[in-house]
Amino acid sequence: MAKPVRRRLRKLLPWALGLFAGGIVLVLAIAYSGIFNIAASAGHPAWLEWLLTLGKERSVIVNSLPVDAPELDIAGLMPLGAAHFQGGCATCHRTPGQSLNPVYAQMLPPPPDLKINAPMWTREQLFWIVRHGIQFTGMPGWSGRDRDDEVWAVVAFLEVLPLMKVADYLKYANGNNKDNIAAQNYPASEFASQGRPKINLSACNRCHDTSDAPPTSPYVPRLGGQDKAYLKRTLHEYHNDLRQSGFMEPIAVELDDEHINKLADYYASLAGPVSKPVQRPSSAGLELGRQLAEHGDLLRKVPACLSCHGANKRSDYPRLAGQSEQYLRQQLQILQRGIRAKTPYGAIMTTIAKRLTEQQVVAAAAFFANQAPAERADHKAGEGLRQ
Ligand code: HEC
Ligand code: HEC
Ligand code: HEC
Repeated sequence: MAKPVRRRLRKLLPWALGLFAGGIVLVLAIAYSGIFNIAASAGHPAWLEWLLTLGKERSVIVNSLPVDAPELDIAGLMPLGAAHFQGGCATCHRTPGQSLNPVYAQMLPPPPDLKINAPMWTREQLFWIVRHGIQFTGMPGWSGRDRDDEVWAVVAFLEVLPLMKVADYLKYANGNNKDNIAAQNYPASEFASQGRPKINLSACNRCHDTSDAPPTSPYVPRLGGQDKAYLKRTLHEYHNDLRQSGFMEPIAVELDDEHINKLADYYASLAGPVSKPVQRPSSAGLELGRQLAEHGDLLRKVPACLSCHGANKRSDYPRLAGQSEQYLRQQLQILQRGIRAKTPYGAIMTTIAKRLTEQQVVAAAAFFANQAPAERADHKAGEGLRQ
């Protein structure tokens, strides 16, 4: 650079620094004086609205660039996303056919109608928004910290939402809760006499199995026939943030010991229907699954699954027979990622899951999904397969 230019720049430097410091002092003075009206009721001036919208859009677009969307099993995931939307999002965003609650309409910015806004974003951008939330707006991030896999169920629902009729929405949002009672709605008389009842099976029925219906999505586990000790333990773990799930933790945090006991009793006593396997695995896959279940894999130091998950299993270990392939595969994958390792129980299974190959995960999930739920005789595992 030529010497005169450098000299001139050097002269400008103190001015630039002075201007910068002056700017900071001005901003601090405005903040301290309280003259900027932050009342939500005042709304944003047009210039600020424009700036905030630009900032939000650009931030979502740029930050979601690294998101790699998997192929989505929309039909399987959407019912779970819809049921969660009803319990975790609809309070703010309204349900189809309803107008915005006047209290939430007073938020600044007010939560938008997602039937209109969801199509403005790509699959990756929707994922990013639901996973991380949006600062300064009240839009929360996903509560299952490491459970990115769960967010896709909500994205699958948001993609279908704009096309949904009100009746379709109610069907999926209420799931097996045939009374069509929204989870938050209680009869006024009951509310007046008892307060808001915390134990509410209709809340669980939206997703889980009942005595005459399987879970509403293959990504939701069957609870019917699971041992009481396991159900109790795992509900306490969701309650205490020892098992992560953005679907279950917000529900379990509301349950106290008494409710957990009653719910565990109820589901342990429920036989539940036999849900059909979604996909017939290849016989080679089934054979590999059976081998693993009965004998394990000596070379990879994997013990036989049935030594812990079979008929003589401990009552605080889960039963796998009859769970869907999708649920079993997803749990094995999150176990492999170390996400369920906070408890001694989870730690045992994490060690084993990490030793499994991808092919073994698929085969084991297929094998147990094809066993009748009531099948408890480990030595007859092969014969328990449903035709
Ligand atoms: C406490 C209220 C609240 C809850 C609960 C909430 N949101 Fe939001 N949401 C907002 C607000 C406020 C915005 C921001 C609107 C804006 O920036 O204009 C927003 C924005 C969004 C957007 C971006 C829409 C757009 O075009 O700006 C999506 C998508 C969204 N929410 C989905 C969800 C989903 C899915 C859930 C449930 C898992 C959820 N929200 C739960 C309040 C909420
Ligand atoms: C919005 C759907 C939804 C609702 C409502 C719901 N669950 Fe769940 N539940 C799930 C999903 C999804 C999982 C799997 C979560 C995971 O990956 O850990 C699950 C897991 C569970 C498990 C662990 C099962 C296992 O095999 O490890 C129990 C127990 C459970 N739920 C009980 C309940 C009870 C009791 C209620 C009602 C108070 C309820 N759930 C309401 C979706 C739901
Ligand atoms: C040494 C005992 C042991 C062996 C062997 C074992 N598991 Fe597990 N498994 C457990 C325990 C304990 C849990 C409960 C973990 C928890 O509560 O977080 C579990 C949980 C699971 C779950 C989650 C179930 C649910 O409802 O969420 C799956 C899936 C699973 N095991 C599959 C397998 C497979 C497949 C094999 C064989 C390759 C296997 N396990 C071998 C002890 C074992």
